[in-house]
Amino acid sequence: MTFLGIDIGTSGVKALLIDADGKALGEASAPAVEPVRPQPGWSEQNPADWWAATLGAVDKLKQSHPRELAAVKGIGLSGHMHGATLLGENDTVLRPCILWNDGRSAKECAEMEAALPALRELAGNIAMPGFTAPKIAWVRKNEPEIFRQIRKVLLPKAYVRLLLTGEHVEDMSDGAGTLWMDVARRDWSDALLGVTGLGREHMPRLVEGSAVSAELKAEYAARWGMTGPVVVAGGAGDNAAAACGIGAIRPGEGFVSLGTSGVLFVSNESFSPNTEGAVHAFCHAVPDTWHQMGVILSATDSLNWLSRITGRKQAELSGEAESQFKGPGETIFLPYLSGERTPHNNANARGSFTGLSQSSDPAQLAQAVMEGVSFAMRDCQRVLNDAGTRIDRLLAVGGGSKSALWLKLLATNLDMEIALPEDGDFGGALGAARLGLCAATGARPADVMTMPPILRTIAPDQSLSAAYSDHYARYRALYSAIEEARS
Ligand code: XUL
Repeated sequence: MTFLGIDIGTSGVKALLIDADGKALGEASAPAVEPVRPQPGWSEQNPADWWAATLGAVDKLKQSHPRELAAVKGIGLSGHMHGATLLGENDTVLRPCILWNDGRSAKECAEMEAALPALRELAGNIAMPGFTAPKIAWVRKNEPEIFRQIRKVLLPKAYVRLLLTGEHVEDMSDGAGTLWMDVARRDWSDALLGVTGLGREHMPRLVEGSAVSAELKAEYAARWGMTGPVVVAGGAGDNAAAACGIGAIRPGEGFVSLGTSGVLFVSNESFSPNTEGAVHAFCHAVPDTWHQMGVILSATDSLNWLSRITGRKQAELSGEAESQFKGPGETIFLPYLSGERTPHNNANARGSFTGLSQSSDPAQLAQAVMEGVSFAMRDCQRVLNDAGTRIDRLLAVGGGSKSALWLKLLATNLDMEIALPEDGDFGGALGAARLGLCAATGARPADVMTMPPILRTIAPDQSLSAAYSDHYARYRALYSAIEEARS
């Protein structure tokens, strides 16, 4: 018996096969078409691209691991969160999906909070443009003919599930990121849905991430050589899925993720909202568990941008920054290229470099980018601490965790040891596969979601701590000064 995790990321789809002991057997990936930005601050992707990349990744596994793929009994899905996939009659896609890093709906957020004063209390979260509901409020106002045709709103991975199984189903962790859920009760909220002119009939059925959501259609089972019923688990939003992959499901266990977005994630035993400081409080992907996170919108995406404009590869930039690193430089970078969620909740914030000189070179800018992102994660830690949250253990995940310098900057700024799993590029795929295993076998999530082998632990560099505290204070002061000057 084997299990398949499929992680639908903004930049591509990764498929991972595991055996009944949770050991990785093989993986494959397929790139997705980059999001398009029709206007500054907007971000959209075509759902057909996720589907093509999903088929592409699993078909590759069929080539490389036909026997292991044929033995799959459970599939788990993980996906980038919050995207509004609007479906009309016969599940036709009505417009490109408005993604998690799209900031167009700031005005609608304010209007929603004014229309329903209990919104923060009910949702446990601030209305932020990244979430799904404000995007629908924007569509309702700006594209009324599309709004009228909406029959269902799905998140990205629920759309892929629909094509795999024919059913509209969503898991609790991703559902919580819509702003339509009563997160404490793990159910849709009629009051929250009503603010955007929708009802329960527009929502998929909710299941726990580790429970069965539906069965894989016979045509895909046949395409991949699978026999007998193959169940698809509820799965998880990519962050809760990554937490399942690194075994962070108990209170105080967390991770720091350097992916396209940056996330400081911690599990909680109960629903723990703290809307001050734009903390996200969502359901976890396993029953009776919740989590909090601070989310920044441009982590490796900031380095990706620098790489685009300098024409140098990301790995090259971070490698050079590392070899010439001598402690904090003069340049400070604010990573608000797509606006920011935690702690500012300001979709219109923008990035900046300060302290440039004639000798500034791409490697120094890359160092400043890695420092700026580390400061933004330090901001997330500060607001989680303000909320009284305890973080006992942090693992590093995401593509940026391949950089030793970036990990040192993070450990030093968070003043915490950070453990790096042997496969540092843990996305949601392993967590999704583990959820698929639980759904297919009935195994207890607590037995399956264990910590992976650790490659090394990165300690804070005490010799740099004081200098980085000064640098961080300057970074914080710059945000208000620059925003004031821009307004
Ligand atoms: C979380 C968030 C991002 C996306 C990226 O709130 O918006 O981490 O899930 O994939």
